[in-house]
Amino acid sequence: MTQTITVIRGDGIGPEIMDATLRVLDAMNVGLQYEFADAGLVALEKQGELLPAATLESIRTNRIALKSPLTTPVGEGFSSINVELRKRFDLYANVRPAKSFPNTKSRFPSGVDLVTVRENTEGAYIGEGQSLSEDGETAVLQQKVTRRGSERIVRYAFELARRTGRKKVTVVHKANILKSTSGLFLRTARTVAQEYSDIECNEMIVDNCCMQLVMRPEQFDIIVTTNLFGDIISDLCAGLVGGLGLAPGANIGTDAAIFEAVHGTAPDIAGQGKANPCALLLGAAQMLDHLAMPEQAERLRKAVISTLEAKDSLTPDLGGSGTTDTFADAIIRRL
Ligand code: NAI
Repeated sequence: MTQTITVIRGDGIGPEIMDATLRVLDAMNVGLQYEFADAGLVALEKQGELLPAATLESIRTNRIALKSPLTTPVGEGFSSINVELRKRFDLYANVRPAKSFPNTKSRFPSGVDLVTVRENTEGAYIGEGQSLSEDGETAVLQQKVTRRGSERIVRYAFELARRTGRKKVTVVHKANILKSTSGLFLRTARTVAQEYSDIECNEMIVDNCCMQLVMRPEQFDIIVTTNLFGDIISDLCAGLVGGLGLAPGANIGTDAAIFEAVHGTAPDIAGQGKANPCALLLGAAQMLDHLAMPEQAERLRKAVISTLEAKDSLTPDLGGSGTTDTFADAIIRRL
């Protein structure tokens, strides 16, 4: 059976890692067809808008998208297209695994195997009610957390634990200080946890969690948290196991799902052919799991891991001198 997916090649290193990823998927012969759609700066240049209607329609129809990173200007300019896509399709669960990879230069070449489940549609991160006073001296931001939003993300985390045989969910919050928003998240999490007596549940304040992750990451299995904390924690976790070049992420909703790398457009290395394609490739593996092709997902992950193990054609971020293309070729040889 053929499945059509929407493909967004993105900005910066996006097209380079996407082309490599599609070559690997083609070599696997998993029956995917690609419908290319533009978003972000490329769409603005070509079609005069950041998120064209045709792109939204493509995702709505195919329900699955593989997306490279998109630029968001820092401190000014247009709002994030990633945030907009998550809002439009109500992609409420951002699922970011972090696992130690053998032979990679990292703080934890073994022992880390955790998943950050980040609420993806509310909280400070979505920038609701942002404004700057006329004199530029005062900035405000609203932070909205709902019981419904908290309940469904915590439930997602526990269901993920059951589905994947994980044993523990850590609820990460700042309810000691943010008593209303983080407090509501924590209270809701405690209620949901009562339905899952087969899964251990503990609570941790976010600052302590960051320290614990750096000191003893092996204690974590699934972390569930609000949007902004999850954004930061998942990059921290990527740093524990070898960097952003190895960290994938899935944005899951009821009607659609978008798979991507955790990292951004890496403007400092764009166009040089040295971007690491693994994060997007591992995002593609998450997509294959979602498409009920777990054996193919595992085949892809194993090929990536054995290429890392053999240190074959690694890109410079992993200490090698390979290129995006030679790295992808090495992975294809190991499929
Ligand atoms: P970044 O993730 O693009 O880069 C951070 C560092 O990691 C850079 O030194 C970069 O060279 C390196 N890096 C990232 N991906 C790599 C890869 N695949 N291979 C080798 N090295 C890699 O973060 P930065 O610089 O903060 O953001 C750049 C742009 O990306 C911004 O406009 C930001 O808004 C956007 N962004 C987009 C995301 C998305 O579309 N999901 C996620 C994060 C950032």
